[in-house]
Amino acid sequence: MSAAVSLVVPPRDIAPLRRFVTGFAAILDSGAGQAAILEQGGDLLARLVSRDDWLPDAFARPHPDRYQQYLLHCDSAERFSVVAFVWGPGQTTPIHDHRVWGLVGVLRGAEKVQNFRRRVDGSLVQQGATADLFEGEVEGIDPDVGDIHRVANAFADRTSISIHVYGANIGAVERATYRANGEERPFISGYANDVLPNLWNGVIQV
Ligand SMILES: [Fe+2]
Repeated sequence: MSAAVSLVVPPRDIAPLRRFVTGFAAILDSGAGQAAILEQGGDLLARLVSRDDWLPDAFARPHPDRYQQYLLHCDSAERFSVVAFVWGPGQTTPIHDHRVWGLVGVLRGAEKVQNFRRRVDGSLVQQGATADLFEGEVEGIDPDVGDIHRVANAFADRTSISIHVYGANIGAVERATYRANGEERPFISGYANDVLPNLWNGVIQV
């Protein structure tokens, strides 16, 4: 008599995120420098956000009052973290910095990014025009060339979601938000979630 076999298929196949995380760790294991991390990691992120069928609903929920940062994965040595930013209609960040390299890929909807730079007197001035980032597009963040910006949902009537990767456990990084006059305020973002998605939940044979 053969053993009974049943298959439990999760509602969303998280394999693309698992492949992204293992691929990103391999880039870091190779000893790649920041430029190579941003280039090769950017290619991986572009592949991840080219399809919108893997992010579990629990990490795609907007909050009525403020944007959400859901940690999806943190490397065991905190070399990198992967975060889903979920923007409710019209929501925006304060002006802020990062202090580590980063990558942003839009999974759903679109966002507006305004970069800033410091004047000699320490105040902030907008650097370039507001840029739109659309589904499937990826942008790098490089503290060496300037990493102060403000990000907003490009839509006033629907949720947008972007996937971010940072060169640290970004929720624990001591960084800053800024007033327009350049005044810094200490900022540690934390995360909105207490539990993580199970990257290893493929098809389970019972
Ligand atoms: Fe940012």
